[in-house]
Amino acid sequence: MFCVRIDDVIRHNERVATIKFERKIPSFPGQFLMVNVFGYEEIPLSLSSPNSVTVKAVGETTEALVNSKPKDLIGLRGPFGRPFTPSDKALIVAGGIGIAPLKFLHDYLIDRGAEVLVVFGARTAKDLIWVDEFENAIFATDDGSEGFRGNVVELVKSIDLSKFERIYCCGPKPMLRGLFELFKAKNVLDKAEFSLENYMRCGIGLCGSCVLENGARVCVEGPVFRGIELPKEF
Ligand SMILES: Cc1cc2nc3c(=O)[nH]c(=O)nc-3n(C[C@H](O)[C@H](O)[C@H](O)COP(=O)(O)OP(=O)(O)OC[C@H]3O[C@@H](n4cnc5c(N)ncnc54)[C@H](O)[C@@H]3O)c2cc1C
Ligand code: FES
Repeated sequence: MFCVRIDDVIRHNERVATIKFERKIPSFPGQFLMVNVFGYEEIPLSLSSPNSVTVKAVGETTEALVNSKPKDLIGLRGPFGRPFTPSDKALIVAGGIGIAPLKFLHDYLIDRGAEVLVVFGARTAKDLIWVDEFENAIFATDDGSEGFRGNVVELVKSIDLSKFERIYCCGPKPMLRGLFELFKAKNVLDKAEFSLENYMRCGIGLCGSCVLENGARVCVEGPVFRGIELPKEF
């Protein structure tokens, strides 16, 4: 484990904040860190840029992190896991806080001259973060307060998937399962990549708490899996 000092805390809404570190961590989009919030637990969080994580308060540790202050110290292990595979024509599909690793991927691909379309869904407009920072994006909200009224899977159904080299997805399990079924029906599972957020403890392949039905460890063989690598139940 190594320690870094927090440089800045950017509040996106009541429950979500980006925690910027004082230095960059050599890493690729899709990789995650084990973040030790002193006095609380150690939790896995995706990098949302080379020097940040973006976290939603859902329990004690994430709440403490969202409320942390510049100059606070946190402990890190990593980066761990298999990253996304870059492409020149990308469709990014995000649900809720699943946008965190995909924001890093978006910026990485844009810097390399790729064409990127972002489809981002959330409960309401205030849960949509970074809306002005994507080059080309469409939005969905459950209550219709921004963009398409309905869920992200319904919105993706209206898109011609044949023109994309890769499709990258991260978000809640029901959304990922809906996309998995849609891509299977449309015969594009081979170009889809899913980032999974299964419960983790060690982050390095030893404890078995993140293992999928087919034996793959999300922390080592993932967290990014190609659609064709995923078991029926994931
Ligand atoms: C590879 C990976 C990357 C992740 N990246 C991010 C990220 O970028 N931003 C972010 O906000 N969160 C991310 N998560 C989820 C994050 O790790 C959990 O929200 C966190 O561990 C919750 O800790 P807690 O102590 O605050 O809450 P707990 O008290 O541990 O849990 C609060 C509630 O959240 C549920 N929960 C806890 N962990 C998970 C999980 N992994 N999946 C689904 N539900 C869970 C619990 O069942 C409980 O209902 C990621 C998880 C993984 C495995
Ligand atoms: S978290 Fe321990 S094996 Fe994956």
